[in-house]
Amino acid sequence: KRLILVGPPGSGKGTQSPIIKDEYCLCHLATGDMLRAAVAAKTPLGIKAKEAMDKGELVSDDLVVGIIDEAMKKPSCQKGFILDGFPRTVVQAQKLDEMLAKQDAKVDKVLNFAIDDAILEERITGRWIHPSSGRTYHTKFAPSKVPGVDDVTGEPLIQRKDDTAAVLKSRLDAFHKQTEPVIDYYSKKSIVATLHAEKPPKEVTSEVQKVLSS
Ligand code: AP5
Ligand code: ZN
Repeated sequence: KRLILVGPPGSGKGTQSPIIKDEYCLCHLATGDMLRAAVAAKTPLGIKAKEAMDKGELVSDDLVVGIIDEAMKKPSCQKGFILDGFPRTVVQAQKLDEMLAKQDAKVDKVLNFAIDDAILEERITGRWIHPSSGRTYHTKFAPSKVPGVDDVTGEPLIQRKDDTAAVLKSRLDAFHKQTEPVIDYYSKKSIVATLHAEKPPKEVTSEVQKVLSS
């Protein structure tokens, strides 16, 4: 299956991705994770992306389309993939369709993580991450066994630089202006499934499973 996860910051895309990935053996491509790794490694791509990311704005279409084009060539992504955080503009969606058309492929399903903006600040400001695995915790909703420490490796957890209430406002603004049109783009193709992303994580997982098995 070729799946796209769309939703505002904190809607649960990164939380559900590993579960879907394990169940369907898909490759998980998260442009945000890839960009953060590039920023941390100070690669030319990371240096270009950092300023927009710190402000909560979108990185240019050319940069992200380039990383997705490269990443999708991996053999593990040939049978199917989960795109988490891409496409985020209509231009990106069109480019993705062009890339897939070259392989006689198309997007199968778009999971729309629908949620009210008001819930997101608490989710974002309470999030803690284990950077090397991508495991995500929340001080209230999904606490690690020992505060600030990854359950599996015992390594320290970090908070994302853009996870502040102020930067969240710009990220939400970018979502409503630039990414919501992407949902309309796929609605016209009748492949969007809308989830109740405000529910607890396990209930969201059940909704995802129901959509993917139908
Ligand atoms: P990106 O990393 O994609 O961030 P985002 O879209 O803002 O999404 P988040 O990762 O914040 O949210 P999530 O839905 O994954 O939430 P999570 O599951 O972790 O992008 C970052 C930046 O990179 C962008 O601002 C942009 O600059 C750039 N970028 C990336 N892709 C781009 C593109 N295609 N084009 C241009 N620029 C791009 O959950 C959040 C918290 O809530 C966690 O603590 C979790 O434990 C908790 N939680 C999750 N689900 C639930 C639940 N059901 N109930 C209670 N708590 C929950
Ligand atoms: Zn995420």
